[in-house]
Amino acid sequence: MNSPARIVVLISGRGSNLKSIIAHQGAYEVAAIISDKADAAGLVVGKEEQIACFSFARENYSSKAAQKSAIYEKVREISPDFVALAGFMQIIEAAFVEEFFGKLVNIHPSLLPEFPGLHTHQRALDAGAKKHGCTVHYVDAGVDSGPIIAQASCCVLPEDNEHSLASRVLEIEHKLYPWALAQLAQGNIWIEGRTVRMKEGVREEMRGKFSL
Ligand code: GRF
Repeated sequence: MNSPARIVVLISGRGSNLKSIIAHQGAYEVAAIISDKADAAGLVVGKEEQIACFSFARENYSSKAAQKSAIYEKVREISPDFVALAGFMQIIEAAFVEEFFGKLVNIHPSLLPEFPGLHTHQRALDAGAKKHGCTVHYVDAGVDSGPIIAQASCCVLPEDNEHSLASRVLEIEHKLYPWALAQLAQGNIWIEGRTVRMKEGVREEMRGKFSL
C-alpha cells in the first residue's frame, strides 16, 4: 500500500473541519497545521492529536505581506502533497496559488458557483434557494472560483434561518472534505489544465453519498 499523502491544513478559527479531517486520516495524514491566529481554537485540536502546529500571528510581523510570506515559507519547508484551507480567512497571493496549483484546495459553504464570498447561508435564504450545500475546489487566483472537485447538498427547509442552515451545511462539510481529500490522496481525482478528472465510479460514489 502507498504511504499516506501528507497534508498541511491552514486555519484561522474554530477548526471543526480540521477536526473531521484529522478523524478521517488513513489515505492521507495531517503533517502540520498552520494558523494565522495564535488563539485559533483549531490549534488546540491539533496539539491534542500531537500534530505539529505553527501559528503566525499578525502582531509578530511588520506587515500582512510579511506574515503571509512566513506562512508560505513554512508550507514550502514542510513540502506537503496537498494544502487544505479550512476556514483560513486570508486571501492567498496569486504567486503562491500558481506555485501550488493542483495541490491547494478549499472548502466553501455553498454550491459554487452560487454564492462565492461571505454570508452564503443568508444569501441562499434571501434568494429562496431550495437546495444549498458546500463545495471542495482547487484554489485559483479568484474568489472561490477554482475548479470544482466535489459538492454535497442539503434541502433548505421553510423554517430554516441562517443559523440552522449553517449547522446543517457544516455537518455535510465534515463528511465531504475528508472524502475529497482521501480521493485526491489516492489519485482518484486529479486536475489536468483546469479540468477535474476522476477515475471511473468516483463521481457516482460522490453523487450517492452526498445527494447531488
Ligand atoms: C466553514 O464553513 C468552511 O466552509 C468555511 O469556513 C468555515 C470554517 O469552519 N471556509 P471551521 O473552522 O472548519 O469550523
